[in-house]
Amino acid sequence: MSLPAVPAPGPGRHLPPPAHSSGARAPRIPPHRLPRHVAIIMDGNGRWAAGLGAARTRGHRSGSRAMIDVVDGALEVGLAQLSLYAFSTENWGRPAAEVDGIMLLLHEVLRSNLRRWHEQGIRVLWSGRRTRAAAGIRTELEAAEYLTRDNELLTVAVCFDYGSRAELLDAVRLLAVDVATGRVEPVALQEEDLAGYLYQPDMSEIDLLVRTGGEQRISNFLLWQAAYAELIFEQTLWPDFDRRDLWRAVQAYTRRQRRFGGSGAGDPGVTAAG
Ligand code: FPP
Repeated sequence: MSLPAVPAPGPGRHLPPPAHSSGARAPRIPPHRLPRHVAIIMDGNGRWAAGLGAARTRGHRSGSRAMIDVVDGALEVGLAQLSLYAFSTENWGRPAAEVDGIMLLLHEVLRSNLRRWHEQGIRVLWSGRRTRAAAGIRTELEAAEYLTRDNELLTVAVCFDYGSRAELLDAVRLLAVDVATGRVEPVALQEEDLAGYLYQPDMSEIDLLVRTGGEQRISNFLLWQAAYAELIFEQTLWPDFDRRDLWRAVQAYTRRQRRFGGSGAGDPGVTAAG
């Protein structure tokens, strides 16, 4: 993959996201009312394709277009973090042709969008197991992380070969080594110390988790980070979702009363509405 020879333009001089094809513009929401971190389970590609009598890969291809539009929409509305469930640890069990098709799409998405994302100030992270992906995919995702490492406008976590149980297991394995070698004292361990062993230790708590496709499950996605996330389940199949649906979900979030299990008054950020 060829990487841009020039650095990103720098603070305040980023390439603006292209407008949506409808001309719709993002709602203006004060930063303190926005969800900081939105995570999305992009579900329904297969059913969308079946509705057209097409192969599932056609649904994933349309789904990748929806994903690109939603990244632009996240930037436009001012989100700080967006995490996308692109391929789960369980998805390896799908037919080889479908798995190969998703790998090819990921390659195409990075090849066609990475330069622009970099110029837009987007930082790309990979959250997931790094041992099973083909070498080419691993190299591309890691190159994307490296190229965009200093960008600060929006962090997009591509959750690829991701599963929360695998993430927690991998974290515990690393932690066990540190305990065995005396670097960590088990009784002194705090929640934030454990978070430090996750795939992306700096990933902030998820404020809003959206799932498309009508199912109401979390499906092993960012369980640690989503402990107090507000949940929105959309009927829309992922290929029909676009940035306007993201903005509607963000607006719905601003009307939620957030609670973190305490009395309310002492909780951090009790209402999304400020
Ligand atoms: C779920 O739909 C979606 C996936 C398993 C993969 C998500 C992939 C994309 C959005 C395409 C872009 C991805 C990359 C990696 C660039 P499903 O197939 O489970 O749909 P169904 O529930 O209708 O069968």
